[in-house]
Amino acid sequence: MPVITSIDDLKRLYKSRAPKMFYDYCESGSWTEQTFRENTSDFDKIRLRQRVAVDMSNRTTETEMIGEKVAMPVALAPVGMTGMQHADGEILAAKAAEKFGVPFTLSTMSICSIEDVAEHTTKPFWFQLYTMKDEDFVRRLVDRAKAANCSALVITLDLQILGQRHKDLKNGLSAPPKLTPAVIADLATRWRWGMGMMQTKRREFRNIVGHVKGISDPSSLMAWTGENFDLTLDWDKVAKLKEMWGGKVILKGILDAEDAKMALKVGADAIIVSNHGGRQLDGALSSIRVLPEILDAVGDQVEVHLDSGIRSGQDVLKAVAMGAKGTYIGRAFIYGLGAMGEAGVTRALEVIHKELDVSMALCGKRDIKDVDRDVLLVPEDFGGRWQG
Ligand code: GLV
Repeated sequence: MPVITSIDDLKRLYKSRAPKMFYDYCESGSWTEQTFRENTSDFDKIRLRQRVAVDMSNRTTETEMIGEKVAMPVALAPVGMTGMQHADGEILAAKAAEKFGVPFTLSTMSICSIEDVAEHTTKPFWFQLYTMKDEDFVRRLVDRAKAANCSALVITLDLQILGQRHKDLKNGLSAPPKLTPAVIADLATRWRWGMGMMQTKRREFRNIVGHVKGISDPSSLMAWTGENFDLTLDWDKVAKLKEMWGGKVILKGILDAEDAKMALKVGADAIIVSNHGGRQLDGALSSIRVLPEILDAVGDQVEVHLDSGIRSGQDVLKAVAMGAKGTYIGRAFIYGLGAMGEAGVTRALEVIHKELDVSMALCGKRDIKDVDRDVLLVPEDFGGRWQG
């Protein structure tokens, strides 16, 4: 068993174990990948302020996200096709999250269904919704999430249309993979993955397949989004979805202060400052760069969370210090899952927790709830001077 000390260690192992098609799906941004790169490089520009001779005993990273107790301000982000990175991936990740005490968010475009995850967990998880043209299907999906006792609906607002990721087209991304000669050659070196897949029945988009008729290619995320996602989604529809759900709603994909104010108007319980991990609008600003502006606009009226670019506990500390009440990891837990299944997700959470806890202590803080901008050194021009 290799010694895993960082998220990068998990990523290396993941790359050697997961089929190329799914590694590439995870590790891509759209078009030139500028936003994808800047999500992480912008975190690097912020520095932490070291303080000394401060009592660092009795530390805690425990806090709340939308009123739910969390072991640290980190949730697992909804990631499409997680069950293709490792057999039963969503179930395993949800179990690891539950044991660790952080929220798990199931994607609409998951392999394991809402019911599969509910059956294998004991605490409520969050469900992420993509809005589709077929209103009846959306209603049934929402009802299924309610029946599964999901405690929040995470509505994604930045993917009505798919940003192009070149590698997915070149690889012929699908779930399950189509067995072309190139795929067969790749899978021949991924026996661990293949054994897992042979032992599970969960190999297709189980929130969708069997629940809707007339899909041209049920194995293709790109075909499904292109044909079925609702291009007409607007704030009225968001308000209706909120009403249909009747519980806590988190709006994901906010990157502009004006949109944050709209989210406030429809009564969101939280917003996620996000550019979809750099997978949608290439050329958009990184999430951490726009966070301060959004906090200034709505931070005192709605809980503001952040995703896109979190790869370490230090990143979590920086986002929380800026004012985010919670963060999400997507790729960082997928690396763990693809490397070692449930144990790998747990390891990813442990790595991030330790980095967060120790860095917080070295900044002179004992309680994550006391962490504020005081621990940060932010370059003067960090927000940038942009002409609108
Ligand atoms: C969404 O499901 C994505 O592929 O980013």
